[in-house]
Amino acid sequence: KGYFTYDPGFVSTAACESAITYIDGGKGVLLHRGYPIEQLAEQSDYLETCYLLLNGELPTQQEREDFVNTVKNHTMVHDQVSTFFKGFRRDAHPMAIMCGVVGALSAFYHDSLEISNEHHRRIAAFRLIAKMPTLAAMSYKYSIGMPFMYPDNSMSYSENFLHMMFGNPCEPSNISPVLAKAMDKIFLLHADHEQNASTSTVRLAGSSGANPFACIAAGIAALWGPSHGGANEAVLDMLNEIGDVSRIDEFVARAKDKDDPFRLMGFGHRVYKNFDPRAKVMKQTADEVLKELGVNDPLLAIAKRLEEIALEDEYFIEKKLYPNVDFYSGIILKAMGIPTSMFTVIFAVGRTVGWIAHWNEMISGSYRIGRPRQLYTGYAQRDYPDMASR
Ligand code: CMC
Repeated sequence: KGYFTYDPGFVSTAACESAITYIDGGKGVLLHRGYPIEQLAEQSDYLETCYLLLNGELPTQQEREDFVNTVKNHTMVHDQVSTFFKGFRRDAHPMAIMCGVVGALSAFYHDSLEISNEHHRRIAAFRLIAKMPTLAAMSYKYSIGMPFMYPDNSMSYSENFLHMMFGNPCEPSNISPVLAKAMDKIFLLHADHEQNASTSTVRLAGSSGANPFACIAAGIAALWGPSHGGANEAVLDMLNEIGDVSRIDEFVARAKDKDDPFRLMGFGHRVYKNFDPRAKVMKQTADEVLKELGVNDPLLAIAKRLEEIALEDEYFIEKKLYPNVDFYSGIILKAMGIPTSMFTVIFAVGRTVGWIAHWNEMISGSYRIGRPRQLYTGYAQRDYPDMASR
C-alpha cells in the first residue's frame, strides 16, 4: 500500500499506449484506426480490415491484392504439423488443440525467434493470419475422424475456411456465398478489441521477448475462458440447458440471485455500458442469415425471448447488462451448422490479427517487461520448524 495502485481486474489502469483501436464504452463506439466498425462491417471485408489493423491505413487496390496474395502463399501448414495432431485424443476440445499447435509453430519457423527483425515479424503475421483457418479446420476434421483438407487458394479467406471445415477430398466444395459472407463478417467483427484479456496476455507474454507464435498461443488460452471468447459456446450450452421458453424466468431469477454463481452468458461487458456496437451488426447478420437459410430452431425462440426479457428487466437495466457480440455470434454459427465446440476457435481465428497487430506495435516501439505488483496477504516472516514440532 502506498507505493503502487491496487487495481484488481485492471478496471482503471492503462498498461500501454496504442493507436490501433478506440472504444467509447458509454457511447457504444468502436473504431479501428479511426474507422467505425459499422462502416467496416458494411463496406470492407476481413482481410482488408487485417491490412488496416496491421498497417494503420486502408490499402490501395494494388496493396490489397498483394496482401491477399501473400496471405494465400502461407495457407498451407508444414506436413509434420499434421502428425502433431495425432498426439491428441479425438475427443480433445479444439481449443486445447489450438493452444498446442499454434504454440508449436515456433518449432517450425526459427526466424520468428528474431523478434527485433521487422521482416521476420511481418512474415510471422502473415503466417499466423493465413494458417489459423487451416489449423482450426484441421482441429475439427481431426475430432470427427475425417481427412484434413488442403486450403484452396482460388477461394476467398472465409470460403476457404468453410471448404476446409465442411468439404471432403472426394468432391468439389460448394460453399454458399451467404454463409461465406456471414463468416467473413464474424471474423471482421472479432478482429480487434484493444486491451481485452487475451490481447493483454499476448502483450504481457511478448513483453518478455517471447516469439509471436508462443504469444498468440497464450492469447488463445486466455480467450478460451467463458468470461471472454468462451462465452459464445457457453451461450449455446445455456440455451440448451434452458430448453424451453417457459423456463426462462427461472434462469433470469438465478442470474439475479447474489448467492447463485450463474450468469446469463452473452450479457454484459467490462467496457460497453450502453450497447456493444458489434452486437448490433451481429444481430442484423443473424436475422439475415436465419432468413436466408430458413432455419427454424427452437433455441432461437429461447434466445429471442431471453433477450427481450433481459432488456426489460430492472436488474439488467440498472447494471447496464446488454447482449454482447457473443450472444448473437453463437446463434449465427449454430444456424450455419458449425459445431458448438468450434465457436471459440472461430473467435480465435478472427482475433489473431488483433493480437499480432498489438504485439507488433509493442515490439516496434519502446516497451518494458510487464511486471504487475501485488498486495501481499500471507504470513509475516517465521522460522522453519523441525518435523517433530509441526
Ligand atoms: N448475468 C448476471 N449478472 C451479471 C452478468 C451476467 N451476464 N454480468 C455481470 N453481472 C453482474 C455481476 O454479478 C455484478 O453484480 P454486483 O455489482 O451486484 O456484484 C455486476 O453485474 C458487474 O459485474 P462484474 O463481473 O463486476 O463485471 P465485469 O466487468 O468484471 O465483467 C463480464 C464483465 C463480461 C465478464 C461479465 O458481464 C460476464 O460474466 N458476462 C457473461 C460472460 C460473457 O458474455 N462474456 C463475453 C464478453 S464480450 C466478448 C469478449 O470479451 O470476449
